[in-house]
Amino acid sequence: MRSTLLLKFLTLSGLVSILFSAPSCTSDNIDDKYGPGSACDTAAVTFSQDIKTIIGQNCEMCHNGNSASGGLNLAGHENIQNSALSGALMDRVERPMSDPLSMPPAGPLSDCDQKKLMAWINQGAPNN
Ligand code: HEC
Repeated sequence: MRSTLLLKFLTLSGLVSILFSAPSCTSDNIDDKYGPGSACDTAAVTFSQDIKTIIGQNCEMCHNGNSASGGLNLAGHENIQNSALSGALMDRVERPMSDPLSMPPAGPLSDCDQKKLMAWINQGAPNN
């Protein structure tokens, strides 16, 4: 009798600790990704602070001056701006993973990165 009670207590405390540790773990990840306290800040998006990095880390290895996959070079502001303002860039980025034309091929950009790209393009894709 005593041992069943102890077992129940241990099971319960195990469950409780799982319940309490899971949400804190998730919010830690969001902090890592977007910086502490901010969800996804698209208000202050700039080419130099945001867009350059997003394209540099996700696109430029295949789209640069030496290796322009699909004939597209995404190195530097002017090239990125041309593709952005023509609509081609977001067309590929917004396609679902199941679409063979979706970019980047290995998986979609995060929601936040897509929102930042849209916000920047809506401003006319400036070199700011
Ligand atoms: C692993 C390599 C790779 C990465 C990374 C990659 N692409 Fe591509 N991309 C390609 C290839 C190959 C093509 C040509 C085949 C096709 O059209 O799908 C292409 C084609 C394109 C085209 C069409 C070209 C045109 O002028 O019609 C656009 C736009 C594009 N990519 C944008 C992007 C963007 C934006 C990213 C980053 C978010 C990206 N790509 C990341 C390989 C890549």
